[in-house]
Amino acid sequence: MSFGVKDLFDIKGKVALISGAAGGLGTVASKGLAEAGAKVMLSGRNEKTLKELAGQIKQAGGACDYCVGDPTTHEDVKNVVAATKKAFGGIDILIPIAGFNKPGPIIEQPLEEWQSIIAANLKGTYLFCKEAGKVLIEQQRGGKVILISSTRSELGMANYSGYSPAKGAINLLAKTLAAEWGPHKINVNALAPTVFRTPLTEWMWGDAKVYENFLRRIPIGRLGEPEDFLGSLIFLSSKASDFITGAILYADGGYTAC
Ligand SMILES: NC(=O)c1ccc[n+]([C@@H]2O[C@H](COP(=O)([O-])OP(=O)(O)OC[C@H]3O[C@@H](n4cnc5c(N)ncnc54)[C@H](OP(=O)(O)O)[C@@H]3O)[C@@H](O)[C@H]2O)c1
Repeated sequence: MSFGVKDLFDIKGKVALISGAAGGLGTVASKGLAEAGAKVMLSGRNEKTLKELAGQIKQAGGACDYCVGDPTTHEDVKNVVAATKKAFGGIDILIPIAGFNKPGPIIEQPLEEWQSIIAANLKGTYLFCKEAGKVLIEQQRGGKVILISSTRSELGMANYSGYSPAKGAINLLAKTLAAEWGPHKINVNALAPTVFRTPLTEWMWGDAKVYENFLRRIPIGRLGEPEDFLGSLIFLSSKASDFITGAILYADGGYTAC
């Protein structure tokens, strides 16, 4: 008797749509999923970085295309979703990675800055779910949606009055859509990293004092490297996670454990 264990993590031929594809975690996700045999649609606001990334993926033998679009603009997201459908015939995996943070004390941070943090993290994720969700449901072949949260979705931090609530809302969006789309066999989970070494967090790992402070709180004893993101991502993209939905998976070296 065989359980088909060898194929549990197989995502060959699946179509993955990734926003913020050219960022630190986005680049690893895009290259990693392409290496695993998925057809990847890269999306972001900057044509130059997307084109470069697409070139690297193709040179390594991967299948991909790119579409420029701002994840916070509804028309752009509609275009990206339409381009994915046109290029690859549908969508199997949605990973809206785009997001950013600008810490600041609530009493000083301009409202517009707070709104831009909420928009990049929450509105962009919402819009991709809204538009790609229509395709996933219409296709009637199930699907995997992986929302990008953060350990800050659960833990507060001074000067994070935009970022933490936005990521907390992403956790609840994952649970909400898990309930809404379960009947369509669409799994919706959130992946919550701690500090990974990317441009977003350079202000932390680039400062010896802040860096040491974080390290002390991570039982595994190191920050996340972008490649650490991949195992959880492939797991949540594949058959291996077919019975997991509405979960928040912490890729955090134990940061939230203690
Ligand atoms: N690195 C970490 O330690 C860490 C920890 C927890 C959670 N995360 C989350 O993981 C995701 C990726 O982070 P990262 O570390 O890869 O950061 P990154 O290297 O700075 O990349 C972020 C991506 O988001 C897009 N983006 C940035 N600001 C935006 C804005 N105002 N509006 C729309 N799109 C914007 C950028 O896309 P363009 O190409 O369009 O500029 C960029 O590719 C984010 O959602 C972040 O919150 C990261």
